[in-house]
Amino acid sequence: MQPILEITDLSHSFGGLKALTDFSLEIFPGELVGLIGPNGAGKTTVFNLITGVFRISAGAITFRGEDISDWRSHRITAAGIARTFQNIRLFKELSVLDNVRLGAFAQHRYSLLDALRRSRRFNTAEQQVTQQAFELLERFNLTHYAHTPARHLAYGEQRRIEMARALISRPQLLLLDEPAAGMNSSETEDLIRRIRQLQDEFALTILLIEHQMRVVVNLCQRLYVLDFGQTIAAGSPQEIQRHPAVLEAYLGKDGDLLSEAPEPDEGTL
Ligand SMILES: Nc1ncnc2c1ncn2[C@@H]1O[C@H](COP(=O)(O)OP(=O)(O)OP(=O)(O)O)[C@@H](O)[C@H]1O
Ligand SMILES: [Mg+2]
Repeated sequence: MQPILEITDLSHSFGGLKALTDFSLEIFPGELVGLIGPNGAGKTTVFNLITGVFRISAGAITFRGEDISDWRSHRITAAGIARTFQNIRLFKELSVLDNVRLGAFAQHRYSLLDALRRSRRFNTAEQQVTQQAFELLERFNLTHYAHTPARHLAYGEQRRIEMARALISRPQLLLLDEPAAGMNSSETEDLIRRIRQLQDEFALTILLIEHQMRVVVNLCQRLYVLDFGQTIAAGSPQEIQRHPAVLEAYLGKDGDLLSEAPEPDEGTL
């Protein structure tokens, strides 16, 4: 099987700081893969390179067999890669519904002129987008907030809006940057359940950045571990939890890596 996403020897620097060094990764269709590592390890930088937020200066990224290394963000989204952000990025004054609908922007096939003239094509596309947005709001338990400004919602709910917005572009690959950050434990359990469901129902491939070991161990089939921009380990969650380099990287930084993680075969969440 061909990987859906293949990253080869990706490096990135900010001035003199090497944020990422020779990073390589393969994800196969339908996989749920985790990217973990201490603060500042380079995880979000990987997402920014995949999604065209940063220009790639060294290395290459292939999506469904096509080299997307020099593509711009909107083209990457239209090709089937969507993401959520570590720091929630919503239009706080806009309604929840409009925030989700905005995610469809990259797949619109009407021109600005169409939109201004409110052509039939525009109206049809608009209706479809609204219908899809309502379906996603229902899936994320947000229907009753459809017309509420996003700023009125709690943090965990805002994270769900972001996921709905990412999904409306009908991605094949979903990149989630710390989706459980700031959630309490019941919200986190709910999120884990939702991510599993999404993966099953939409045949999604997911790359997940997460600090909470409980989340990655429960969800991911494979993990990559970054530290100071370098890949220090890759393997199953069980292998990673015992890996000496990983334990060393986390010691004194994010605390005890093992303390948050359940037994590997528990699988109750
Ligand atoms: N836009 C930027 N300009 C300058 N330096 C940056 C920029 N973005 C990231 N960095 C630096 O690059 C390194 C990697 O950052 P990155 O955000 O990728 O880490 P991370 O693994 O996502 O960390 P965290 O877990 O804290 O989110 C850090 O040292 C960070 O300070
Ligand atoms: Mg980050």
